[in-house]
Amino acid sequence: MRTALIALTDELRRLKTAGVKSVAVSDESVAALRRVVAGCKASRPAAAAAPVVTPAKSSVPPAPVVALKPVASPAGKPMSPPPPIVLPPGGKQVRWDALLELVRNDPTCRAHVRPGKLVVLGVGNLEAKIMFVGEAPGADEEVKGEPFVGPAGQLLTRMIGAMGLKREDVYIGNIMNWRPEMPTPPGAQQIGNRPPTEEEMRYCLPYLRAQIEIVAPALLVALGSTAAQGLLGFGTFKALGEIRGRWREFAGKPLMVTYHPSYILRNQSNRSKRMIWEDLLKVMERAAIPISDKQRGFFLERG
Ligand code: URA
Repeated sequence: MRTALIALTDELRRLKTAGVKSVAVSDESVAALRRVVAGCKASRPAAAAAPVVTPAKSSVPPAPVVALKPVASPAGKPMSPPPPIVLPPGGKQVRWDALLELVRNDPTCRAHVRPGKLVVLGVGNLEAKIMFVGEAPGADEEVKGEPFVGPAGQLLTRMIGAMGLKREDVYIGNIMNWRPEMPTPPGAQQIGNRPPTEEEMRYCLPYLRAQIEIVAPALLVALGSTAAQGLLGFGTFKALGEIRGRWREFAGKPLMVTYHPSYILRNQSNRSKRMIWEDLLKVMERAAIPISDKQRGFFLERG
């Protein structure tokens, strides 16, 4: 366990040196780290224990994790050029099935997935009007092989419900097809997540483009700054606040950029919820989804 903690500390130091200002860590990961650190403290002098990563706790919403400087090949594996995607002629399901086959057999994707874990493609309605685009699979997603099934995914499903839709009505994808790796001793479970690098996202982007082409949604919603950077390009913006809530374009589709659901998990204030909700109201308007007065008033501060 101590080896895992040292590897994690080294990785955090390396990210810091590379200019990364903050790292999103789920409550479950923090709890797991605390247990590990407590175990090390019990068996070693306190000074040897690794630092504990704690999630931000504040009444003022901290700035979302934005505009991280990409680091080169953290996994130490040179990235191949983005793959050409050639799909057979046919209907949406035929092409989507072929794409799933391609991504599951992609040697680069497979090389980045730990034994027993899965490459992840998008999921949902191939006739969806709305396609959500997230960042990368996490611990739950690489086990299930489906995007947004962990805590952030459950919140996304509730957000979709607040829009008067079901998860099965939309399409949900990610920029990345694998969970970005962190140094982890063989046989151990990866603790925590890191944002994908620019070259990792560039590699996976053709798969997302292919999903957009197959589903042909009326519009796209990018969740969080990493997804927005992957779609719009690194260096397009410094902070998510600069571009969220305004329409952009990607692959010929209108693109709304909003916060990642994990931002709301860290900042449960009505103010944070209202910001994301206002972006989703714009999405509903553009997708011609009826909006009730009650929905228009969600998360407004009273009094
Ligand atoms: N966060 C993402 O961006 N994508 C997932 O699939 C899960 C969590």
